[in-house]
Amino acid sequence: MRKQIAAANWKMNLTLQQGEKLLDDIIALPHDLKEYQQAVFAVPFPYLAMAQAKISGKGSVFIAAQNCYNKKSGAFTGETSVEMLQSLGISYVVIGHSERREYFNESNQFLAEKVNICLEYHIHPIFCCGEALNIREAGTQNEFVARQLEESLFHLSAEQLQNIVIAYEPIWAIGTGKTATSEQAQEIHAFIRSLFAKKYGEAVAQNLSVLYGGSVKGSNAKELFLQLDVDGGLVGGASLNAEEFNTIITSLK
Ligand code: PGA
Repeated sequence: MRKQIAAANWKMNLTLQQGEKLLDDIIALPHDLKEYQQAVFAVPFPYLAMAQAKISGKGSVFIAAQNCYNKKSGAFTGETSVEMLQSLGISYVVIGHSERREYFNESNQFLAEKVNICLEYHIHPIFCCGEALNIREAGTQNEFVARQLEESLFHLSAEQLQNIVIAYEPIWAIGTGKTATSEQAQEIHAFIRSLFAKKYGEAVAQNLSVLYGGSVKGSNAKELFLQLDVDGGLVGGASLNAEEFNTIITSLK
């Protein structure tokens, strides 16, 4: 059974004290995760050690970094290596979020290098893809997303692919309050899975978790997550509120 994941993306929000309180509040709420369900918190770099310490011993809760660099170590002032993340016990890294692609010009090739280095250090990439509004309006979202996935992931072996989580996040739905309908989400998630099935076979594709991101809230999570090919969500704004995010966790199927 593939993993169902509710992943919080705090982005560049919250002070250390606010982050600690938010984690404490969410952990204290009842969510009763099943063994194939996970809650993941992608917190800012300075809070990783605090967050990792808070979740220690909680089997279904994991911490993610929001980014990493594509080099192992060296003279790259201000960057964070995957080895550093590994030394903290971090499990996941968000790779290729649309905000990184847009504001920091991260290309598919550059992201492929980040994916490789994550896998080398046994950290799971949460690999983001998704189209902007003009592409959706032109009806070419499938081709666009296929290219992102092919150029960053298709060099991997089937075995490596099992350590990847995909997050489909239409840019027009991120932080806009506009959510893709559950039919739109299901349609493109099924397409994404079919791409992997063609390249790696049906069994590998069926094991791949594909999360939806873009204005997921407590009120729409259940309907989205009920879709056959939607295996949870990557959640920005609504993950900054304990009760709201807990409702999203408890909406996992
Ligand atoms: P949002 O962000 O939930 O605020 O739309 C999602 C994301 O960017 O991961």
